[in-house]
Amino acid sequence: MTDDHVRIFDTTLRDGEQSPGCTMTLEEKLEVARQLARLGVDIIECGFPAASPGDWAAVHQIAREIGTEDGPTIAALARANKDDIERAWTAIQPAAKKRIHTFISTSDIHIEHQLRSTREAVLHKAREMVRFARSLCPDIEFSPMDASRSDPEYMYLVLAAAIEEGATTLNIPDTVGYATPEEYGALITGIRQHVPGADRIILSTHCHDDLGLAVANSLAGVRAGARQIECTINGIGERAGNASLEEVVMALHTRESFFRTRTRINTQELARSSRMVSTFIGVPVPPNKAVVGANAFAHESGIHQDGILKNRLTYEIMNAETVGLEGNALVLGKHSGRHAFRKHVEELGYQLNDDDLQQVFVRFKDLCDKKKFVDDRDIEALIAGETQHTPEIYTLEHVQYNSGLGMIPTATIRLQGPDGTVHTDSAHGTGPVDAIYKAINRIVQRPNELMEFSINAITEGLDAVAEVTVRIREQGAPENGEARTTEQPRRPQVYSGYGVNTDTIVAAAEAYMGALNKMLAARQERLKAEAAAYAAGYNQNAPLYAVDVFGTDAS
Ligand code: KIV
Ligand code: ZN
Repeated sequence: MTDDHVRIFDTTLRDGEQSPGCTMTLEEKLEVARQLARLGVDIIECGFPAASPGDWAAVHQIAREIGTEDGPTIAALARANKDDIERAWTAIQPAAKKRIHTFISTSDIHIEHQLRSTREAVLHKAREMVRFARSLCPDIEFSPMDASRSDPEYMYLVLAAAIEEGATTLNIPDTVGYATPEEYGALITGIRQHVPGADRIILSTHCHDDLGLAVANSLAGVRAGARQIECTINGIGERAGNASLEEVVMALHTRESFFRTRTRINTQELARSSRMVSTFIGVPVPPNKAVVGANAFAHESGIHQDGILKNRLTYEIMNAETVGLEGNALVLGKHSGRHAFRKHVEELGYQLNDDDLQQVFVRFKDLCDKKKFVDDRDIEALIAGETQHTPEIYTLEHVQYNSGLGMIPTATIRLQGPDGTVHTDSAHGTGPVDAIYKAINRIVQRPNELMEFSINAITEGLDAVAEVTVRIREQGAPENGEARTTEQPRRPQVYSGYGVNTDTIVAAAEAYMGALNKMLAARQERLKAEAAAYAAGYNQNAPLYAVDVFGTDAS
């Protein structure tokens, strides 16, 4: 099928979220899924339900809320075994448009060393499991994992069997990011030429970025006839990540006459999607990142500025507004009322409940008193800060710090605890942030390691609002491969927090509290999600997998 529509299959919530340090809470996953629907992606792969009851429950809830008649197709991943496929199927049930995505490795290195199986057995299993999946669901995607390192002749047989059994999309993963664009394009061409029935199904790309070629390979796949690209916001994903959604979309958009295809993406939502994912996982977008980086449209050198002033086309191949990076002029100010503010927030694409809206409104008014020009970037930052959906197990009530040249930095913190009790403590440190974090830790008493701390000014100017992002790792989480109990997370967990304030040090305290509260709430949430999954029909006797479930066949 080579129509000109390239389907965008977003796997931020599956391949992206499963990579270390990209964990999101259920509320965050839902918020990202809502944004992906606004962005106009065709398919959202929202998880791997067999990984844990919590993953199943998240997929189920996204399917219920986002999988509406006119919304995206909701896909879930399953290894090629009945148990996984059934769990994927039950998880996506509430969606109007559902897809089961099943996979099995076809490279000899995976078949021999990882699956400890044979080519014949894998071919048989692929056939059987696609047939089984198709008996449940009319929309079936099949992936021969490690396709780019598979013997093409053998892979053609597996793909042909998948088509015979009813697969509607064949996805061709460059699982280890090994292929070059020429090779990857030739792989797609070879499949189109040699696999019977390939003209009746959609061919899809799934490229990892180990050699920095994921986007180039995906585009080479489209040139060769692929009509679905699997990608993630900001390119997050296993190891070096997946093809970045914003880059493939803008390449196809900007070079439409070259590719002769189109996507259905609303490009003006790209920047917001990027900021949202970055905030939730606590990984800042590098300033030089293509399409959505802060410098992507900045012209520094004199000669470039001169050209831009004369005619933007001299140095600009796309404009910032197309990706939603400009058009930030705000018509509201300190005298605006709550009603107008709500309307503006809705126009920005956010649906806040009354409490969140009130909190953001109060902070907006406060900001208008401190900052000369407040624009949409500030409002979005305030929204992100207020709606991190972090249960307030400890509430930050008071921050006081003393620091300066020749002084010992000290901080006093007051927190309200879970039972309403108020705790105050002080500490000194190497700087005000260190002192604050030590004082907080003296109260909360949960060992953690600060992995990342970054500060960014949201807008230009000396009065800019600071946004601080921190990432912490809980100590004592199980290492990869260790057995886990219901109490333990599936992998060593990293939690991110985000703070916005005109006072950078207070923003740092808010960010740290956000991450700590997430860490404290994670266990509570996991137990709740597992209970919900069991209540909704998840098999109670199914084993709880250890950290990495991809390495086993589990049949
Ligand atoms: O990279 C990969 O091979 C995958 C498959 C599960 C599609 O993510
Ligand atoms: Zn992948």
